[in-house]
Amino acid sequence: MDYKALVAETLNPAIDELDLDDIQNKIEVPKDGSKGDFAFPTFTLAKTRHQAPNQIAAAIAENIDDSQFASVEVAGPYINFFLKKDQAGSDFLKDVLSNPEYGHNTDGEAGHVTIDMSSPNIAKPMSMGHLRSTVIGNSLAEIADANGYQPIKINHLGDWGTQFGKLISAYKRWGSEDEVKADPINTLVKYYVRFHEEAEKDPSLNDEGRAWFKKLEDGDEEATRLWKWFREESLKEFMDIYDQLDIQFDSFNGEAFYNDKMDEVVDMLEDKDLLVESQGAEVVDLEDQGLNVAMIKRTDGATLYMTRDLAAAIFRKRNYNFVKSLYVVGAEQTEHFKQLKAILKKMGFEWADDIEHVPFGLITVNGKKLSTRSGRIVLLQDVLNDSVELAREQIDEKNPDLPNKDEVAHEVGVGAVVFHDLMNERVKSFDFKLEDVVRFEGDTGPYVQYTNARAQSLLRKAGNPTIDMNQLTISDDAVWDVEKLLADFPNVLKRAWREYEPSVVAKYALNLARAFNKYYANSKILQDDDELNARLALVTAVSQVLTESLRLLGVKAPVEM
Ligand code: ARG
Repeated sequence: MDYKALVAETLNPAIDELDLDDIQNKIEVPKDGSKGDFAFPTFTLAKTRHQAPNQIAAAIAENIDDSQFASVEVAGPYINFFLKKDQAGSDFLKDVLSNPEYGHNTDGEAGHVTIDMSSPNIAKPMSMGHLRSTVIGNSLAEIADANGYQPIKINHLGDWGTQFGKLISAYKRWGSEDEVKADPINTLVKYYVRFHEEAEKDPSLNDEGRAWFKKLEDGDEEATRLWKWFREESLKEFMDIYDQLDIQFDSFNGEAFYNDKMDEVVDMLEDKDLLVESQGAEVVDLEDQGLNVAMIKRTDGATLYMTRDLAAAIFRKRNYNFVKSLYVVGAEQTEHFKQLKAILKKMGFEWADDIEHVPFGLITVNGKKLSTRSGRIVLLQDVLNDSVELAREQIDEKNPDLPNKDEVAHEVGVGAVVFHDLMNERVKSFDFKLEDVVRFEGDTGPYVQYTNARAQSLLRKAGNPTIDMNQLTISDDAVWDVEKLLADFPNVLKRAWREYEPSVVAKYALNLARAFNKYYANSKILQDDDELNARLALVTAVSQVLTESLRLLGVKAPVEM
């Protein structure tokens, strides 16, 4: 039952100047339930009617059939609609329980959406920024799917560039195979740092590094072998993290994949007369767009990050024919993606408009940034391990006999970090303290998980009964807030997609958990009376929607914890 549509249909005969869709789009859902379950503002009608909104509201209310509602009230310029709670509440529950995919829609018409996400750099530790990109991208992929799109998750690995020439040169000078194998990324970072230190004293090292990169670009056998090996070793470490997060990718085509696809891009740019020479380098002038020049080829002919991104964008359009192409990359690269779009536009690709940079802010942990060079390194792996450890301590305290403790501690610990990352608006920067993130109370992932586990435990205690869908009315008014939130879930998923904002889902899950806990604290759910079935239906529906919300965020929902 679509109650918003019912409100629109009720209003329709009294509002000649708007069609049904317009009316429906103007209907609001007041935050404060005392102002109705739906409200229609009359401001926009003042122009055509030459009347004050208050008068218009009163006149419309006079002329409608309010029999389908508990009441319809005029409040100044608003007409407020109050639903018949018994009927609506049980309709809401039926909607949830009769559809395992409740909340999903088909708006996307199976269109392809490529999502450039994670994309860490080979031979460097994965940073908090890459973690953000990974979890935001993964959640957006799920949210895209829930809105009827087909997501394609692409890990655009940073596996190409002059730094690999330097790394090869450093390895040739000071490297040891065993050392790399024992601790790949740390060792490679060590070589790289040493290279920079020594190059300060002896700048000819830089030429040697550049020469190695040139060899690599030209397909030299030794350079290629070493590069492949560094890439594989690094990827193994990244895979550990992806496994812990249970996140998969559809493609690992990183920057190197575009090595043989860049000549075409450069040719196209030349054909369109877009390349200009600047101090020996080839650049695209973007001044007319208010952007800096974008370098396409270095003086020595080597290609750049931008060149590879141009090739990648074109390849993705050809290969996946996307309707949207998202890049989940930190806000510090905003200019880069503006340039990318602008260049593609100049090349004549209208689909450049479908490219969307989805930026995000910085996270620090206990005030520290994760970084490669400084001594204050916080490793992502450590953050996850510590979080799992904290989760375990709490489980030991609350539920010492839990059978699959390790698994649950992992789901809660990792889930806590992921949830916390996603519950803040993407673009906001924030610091987090693990103790706050892993708590079972407050605005945390574990709180949502715990609420769901409590709901599951109630159902187990009740013997997991089959719900009778014909008796879903709960007379206790306290459930209304919960039922209304359940009814809002489909809108939440639409908004989360429209705004590319997983936090919309995370905040919703917190609200639903809070509303349910409030009801739960003041009522005897398992009491054996006429409404037991309906109350268990509510518990089932809440658990279903919490579980789905967590799934959309990439967080597990253990049934016991
Ligand atoms: N590897 C890059 C970095 O760590 C991110 C790549 C983002 N994706 C892209 N297509 N440029 O900064």
